[in-house]
Amino acid sequence: MTDKIAYERHGDVAVLRIQNPPVNALSHEVRSGLMAGMDHAEADAGVKAVLLVGDGRAFIAGADIKEFGKTPKEPHLPDVCNRIEASPLIVVASMHGVSLGGGLEVALSAHYRTAQPDARFGLPEVHLGLIPGAGGTQRLPRVTGVEAAIDMITSGRHVKAPEALDMGVIDSIAEGDPQTVGLAHAEALLAEGATRRPVSEMPAPPPIDWDASYEAVLKKGRGQIAPAQAVRAVQASVELPFSEGLKAERQMFWDLMKTDQRQGMIHAFFSERAVSNLPELKGIEPRELAAIGVIGGGTMGAGIATAALLSGLAVTLIEMSDAAAEAAKARIAGNLAGALKRGKLSQEQHDNILNSALSLATDYAALKDSDLVIEAVFEDMDVKKSVFGDLDAICKPGTVLATNTSYLDVNEIAASTSRPGDVIGLHFFSPAHVMKLLEVVVADQTGPDVVATGFALGKRLGKISVRAGVCDGFIGNRILSTYRTAADHMILDGASPYQIDKVLTDFGFAMGPYAVADLAGLDIGWAMRKRLAPTRDPRERVGRYPDKLCEAGHFGQKTGKGFYVYEKGQRGGTPNPEVTALIEAERKERNITPRAFSDVEIVRRYMAAMVNEAAKVVGEGIARRPLDVDMVLLFGYGFPRYRGGPLKWADLVGLPDLLADIERYAEEDDYFWRPAPLLRELVADGRCFDDLNKDA
Ligand code: 3HC
Ligand code: NAI
Repeated sequence: MTDKIAYERHGDVAVLRIQNPPVNALSHEVRSGLMAGMDHAEADAGVKAVLLVGDGRAFIAGADIKEFGKTPKEPHLPDVCNRIEASPLIVVASMHGVSLGGGLEVALSAHYRTAQPDARFGLPEVHLGLIPGAGGTQRLPRVTGVEAAIDMITSGRHVKAPEALDMGVIDSIAEGDPQTVGLAHAEALLAEGATRRPVSEMPAPPPIDWDASYEAVLKKGRGQIAPAQAVRAVQASVELPFSEGLKAERQMFWDLMKTDQRQGMIHAFFSERAVSNLPELKGIEPRELAAIGVIGGGTMGAGIATAALLSGLAVTLIEMSDAAAEAAKARIAGNLAGALKRGKLSQEQHDNILNSALSLATDYAALKDSDLVIEAVFEDMDVKKSVFGDLDAICKPGTVLATNTSYLDVNEIAASTSRPGDVIGLHFFSPAHVMKLLEVVVADQTGPDVVATGFALGKRLGKISVRAGVCDGFIGNRILSTYRTAADHMILDGASPYQIDKVLTDFGFAMGPYAVADLAGLDIGWAMRKRLAPTRDPRERVGRYPDKLCEAGHFGQKTGKGFYVYEKGQRGGTPNPEVTALIEAERKERNITPRAFSDVEIVRRYMAAMVNEAAKVVGEGIARRPLDVDMVLLFGYGFPRYRGGPLKWADLVGLPDLLADIERYAEEDDYFWRPAPLLRELVADGRCFDDLNKDA
């Protein structure tokens, strides 16, 4: 046995206790230990049953993801599962915390399963670009039936104990110390003369329409292959003898292990956890956060207030007039009603929030006791400076003063106060109570404990917080404006917005850039173009047709027309012929003979622009690491998770090819296409972006 598995004898029951903190992942040592533990129990005279139990906070969270991509070492997990199931002794699993992936597969190899009332179960391998690879797709359908198994495996969702009991995943729920409960269960089984009950010997469930299920899952996955493969693996559980089904599952598992999607997903898994882990914050205590203020209750302020209220913070919201404050309250109430409907809060919590946790005011004096204030007023430097001047006069010493500005200079805002060390950017994304991303924008003088407080707030609100430096648009909007420009150039040269949107949703984006622009409001880009116009370089190519669209009063979804036309009651829009006419007119004016763009070229140019700007953002230190950019695009911009992020995508495509593309595009337009120095450096050194993540 290894020291990851403790062996204890309790009467005629042997206990194998898994001890691999923090979550008992099935590392090589754990797998070897389980094998040895089973051998030991079977050789231990008088032992009639084996109890599997986990130490610490979980039964088992699955295979050890850190081992993926390395040469697998024996014993492999399917062999461990088969070994457990084939034991002549009765095997019982007593589960608490999570039993995920390989963890649930181990439990399904036991003959009986009991669990704590708050235990959770899942086969989340699809979130890693995989399918269960140790019998999960073969055993689960035998206990739940095909449809429930397909739902659980293709969604990767966590199922709570009561639902798991209904589904047949577990046999009983019992509260108490997992080992005590498990021993009682094993002894009761022995007392009643229960026999072994291997799931593999249970009859296969009836079939379903496999092709229909496969197609439905494929469509839902927007290009992700693992969930659809899982349907085929479950099909094998019904159509093949158990041992053949296991082989089929294993083959699919290894095929998926070799894919870029698996690499992208695992990069996302670890980056999501690494992103808020900054050496500069080690040992820095955040400031206390109990009451926060929000200034401006428009789209963003109302969303930010909702997020804070849902996390249990008291919020004072300031608006310009009583009427505006009431309108803000109505927006927050609408957001809370959604949360109530989705079961995210109880009626009592909902009423408490609206009646006591939220206060509205028009006088800044109401913010004098706030620990942190987030400003979300109009995007105008003079307005912001005046707000920060007022805050400086009113807030107690130590209050963190945050701005939600999308583009403005946080250093300039900070300089309008007498306490620039307390000023920070907290850039939320719309809708702020839903979107997971928070850019924590660190200005030149922002204090380390203020940065730590920004991250602490993000954690409390359930956000993925990413550190960003100050520049126009920080990480995300700066990169967005570059790849949008690349798309705009393709339109001037002959592509249509609709082809571009289609190609990019096929690539896996949640929405194409022009559908996104309609959703955000075309007036936002219009205002920005006006702001930038005086300082534009004459070599910049900027289309005028979007301005004309705005001049005609078409701002996208909110006015019913933009790049698309939105009919009431219909989801999504249809292409707006006025846009096509405006584009054609502009091409004529500019003497451009339109050319065809292949779908492949559209992806290459769009992604090259994104990666090149991202490399500049990393090279300039605006983002600390490539993984920070990847997480911004994943959580704020609908980038497909299964591609890991733009810089992971770039590594997988190969940086030399990408640089060659950019250099070729620069021959046509050397103003827009300027290769990032960091990209050149990496190519010259034969390195990739992920090497920088590892260095950091
Ligand atoms: N392997 C290796 N490390 C793991 C792990 C795993 N399966 N699961 C979690 N960890 C690590 C995390 O990376 C983190 O490490 P860090 O502290 O160094 O950052 C630490 O454990 C704690 O994890 P979290 O911060 O995520 O803690 P939470 O309490 O928020 O969540 C969890 C715990 C629900 C277990 C979550 O970590 C999780 O969902 N883990 C992944 C589970 C999973 O995908 N299992 C399937 C694996 S694939 C498989 O089993 C294949 C099989 O079919 C053959
Ligand atoms: P909005 O126009 O919907 O809301 C602004 C609100 O601020 C209005 O309700 C207005 O009455 C109020 N306000 C203006 N001046 C005020 C003052 N001095 N005191 C109190 N209240 C005042 O604007 P939106 O979209 O909510 O944007 C707010 C900020 O958030 C801007 O800086 C914007 O750039 C930023 N932002 C916007 C995003 C979006 O998608 N809309 C995304 C991320 C950031």
